[in-house]
Amino acid sequence: MTDHAHALVEAADRGGHAMAAAVECVGLHNTAATLINEILFRAHLDELTTVGGETSVIITLTHGGKEVSALISVGPRGVAVSGTAAPTGLPPTRIVQDACEMALALYGPRERVSPGSREIRWPSPHVMVPRLVNGPAVPKALHAVVQRVVQVLDREGAAPLEELAVRHGTDKWSFLHQYTQHYQRHFGPLRDHRMTVLEIGVGGYGDTETGGGSLYMWKEFFPRGLVYGLDIADKHVLDRPRVTTITADQSDPDALREIAEKIGPFDIVIDDGSHMSPHVITSFKTLFPYLKANGVYAVEDLHGSYWPHLFSGSERDLNDPAFTVGFLKQMVDGLNHEEFLDPGTRDAQPTDATVKGVHFYHNLAFIEKGTNTEGSPFGTVLREAPERLGTEGRPAE
Ligand SMILES: C[S@@+](CC[C@H](N)C(=O)[O-])C[C@H]1O[C@@H](n2cnc3c(N)ncnc32)[C@H](O)[C@@H]1O
Repeated sequence: MTDHAHALVEAADRGGHAMAAAVECVGLHNTAATLINEILFRAHLDELTTVGGETSVIITLTHGGKEVSALISVGPRGVAVSGTAAPTGLPPTRIVQDACEMALALYGPRERVSPGSREIRWPSPHVMVPRLVNGPAVPKALHAVVQRVVQVLDREGAAPLEELAVRHGTDKWSFLHQYTQHYQRHFGPLRDHRMTVLEIGVGGYGDTETGGGSLYMWKEFFPRGLVYGLDIADKHVLDRPRVTTITADQSDPDALREIAEKIGPFDIVIDDGSHMSPHVITSFKTLFPYLKANGVYAVEDLHGSYWPHLFSGSERDLNDPAFTVGFLKQMVDGLNHEEFLDPGTRDAQPTDATVKGVHFYHNLAFIEKGTNTEGSPFGTVLREAPERLGTEGRPAE
């Protein structure tokens, strides 16, 4: 299913004809399974199960004169998906939409989101009206379930990152860290963009069946995103549509390069792996070249740079580039690399011309990739003909 989601996300970028071709290629059944899986992931219908009573909705996707349906039942026992076997109780509400239109709404640029052909077919008035008058009561969740599905199809009601962090169980907003406010600031404007995200550190450490909280958070935050998680432990059991895990050691540059060649370039790389300075620095040096222009590289848990225990850090020389924070701090001077008058002031760094922004927060840094070669008119004169300037920076008489 993972490949089907990739194919549909990629086609959604290219418009209706590309999507029709992708649906043909993937097949209507696989398209329906992928889109229904996506709707269920985003709708969080399990949150409605306590509202009371069992209710169900059928989602029908149409394409080329054919249709495929899935029945979704929501009740106190949870959310269940099946074929279209008639549920017990109230007949289901049916939501019918063209498959290409639905795929474009879920995975396309926002301007392609459109109700278009969508129809909501409520249970017959002959069933509903007598129930309203004499009972048995209409389940309270009936409208809420349909409304959630429609909201997902309209790409409305997107939850803030804090909520997604808590919902998916990452520590990015927790008693440990308050990172989501900074991620929201930097990534919020990119939310509807087509994104390729790589996060180092899936979570769960040696337990191959746990972790993935932040990957699922990014999957929901970036509806058009393809999310990759790299971990030293095998986490494949956590793979989902649009979420792929890769087993590798972040301190192995050859492995990182091979992976980046295959799945890059990236819009975002996040390092939440071992937090050991040599690993963080190796990963940055290897992966930063695979970041797209205007891409962002985030490094979490900078405390690892200082703590000898757990992370082999050091507080002895806070500017030592062998440790994560000292290494990142050099980039602040790198932003101004064209301003130095004495070529001996500092060694040129490979990132001087390719880092356009450096943002530090508590335990978290963002490095923005971009051209940093604006030039320095004053610096040029000061270097080449300082006598042309007066003593206070005014032109000499
Ligand atoms: C803090 S957890 C990641 C949490 C996750 N990003 C989240 O926000 O939910 C750190 C993960 O890094 C992994 N890790 C540790 N050393 C690593 C290495 N050298 N290369 C890749 N992953 C590593 C661990 O197995 C662990 O699962």
